[in-house]
Amino acid sequence: MFKINKNKIPYHVGFIMDGNGRWAQKRLLPRLAGHKAGVEALKRVTSAARELGIKELSFFAFSTENWQRDKEEVDGIFDLIEKHLEENFEKFIEEKVTITTMGDISKLPQKLYRLLIDITEKTKHNTEFVVNIALNYGSRAEVVRACNKLIEKGKKNITLQDFASELYTASMKDPDLIIRTSGEQRLSNFMLFQSAYAELYFTKTYWPDFTKKHLVKAIKNYQSRDRRFGKIKQEKNK
Ligand code: IPE
Ligand code: IPE
Ligand code: MG
Repeated sequence: MFKINKNKIPYHVGFIMDGNGRWAQKRLLPRLAGHKAGVEALKRVTSAARELGIKELSFFAFSTENWQRDKEEVDGIFDLIEKHLEENFEKFIEEKVTITTMGDISKLPQKLYRLLIDITEKTKHNTEFVVNIALNYGSRAEVVRACNKLIEKGKKNITLQDFASELYTASMKDPDLIIRTSGEQRLSNFMLFQSAYAELYFTKTYWPDFTKKHLVKAIKNYQSRDRRFGKIKQEKNK
């Protein structure tokens, strides 16, 4: 088995963390048990990604469409996220992790909203490693929001750069790799603009079962691809 190429580690990896419900169902557990195990996977994958040298991570945690689920599940997901952030607040600061969010977080429960504002503010000067959490995020809503921001600024003509700078990801690089777990092969409104040239990787593994081993496999797969960006052939060792 060939080794991972340390010189070709993706800079930004996006995760569509899917399959928590089915993971729980398979074990005859309530869906929330799946989300709880999903948070453990998120912690595990974050450490593994950092060890591997990835610099930016984006996690799809709650979509604009996920409000259509039962209130109990929605509230439970927010509680789990809040607990995770509270428990790790100090650790993020110590380990120089920048936490950013994307999505309209003002619609989240007040306590979680305030915690997110506090955490993003206190970690914004860190430069080593970015963990971006998509909460009440939808790529289409993000695009419309960017347009409205440009209209508010009185712009009549815009460049690609102007547009990209109004997206939640303005300070981040475009994702190199998007990983979706659970076997579904779709983006479900995740980073549609940013992932124009991202490599897509789908695995049948449910998110709560996703480990460093799976991440390494995904990266090796990514490294085997020829990213041409419309050109003829990628130069060697680039
Ligand atoms: C992903 O797992 C987490 C969220 C969407 C919040 P799901 O809850 O969608 O799990 P499945 O797809 O029902 O198995
Ligand atoms: C996408 O998963 C959203 C998150 C992972 C948060 P969904 O489970 O909501 O997506 P669909 O409904 O299968 O497309
Ligand atoms: Mg799902």
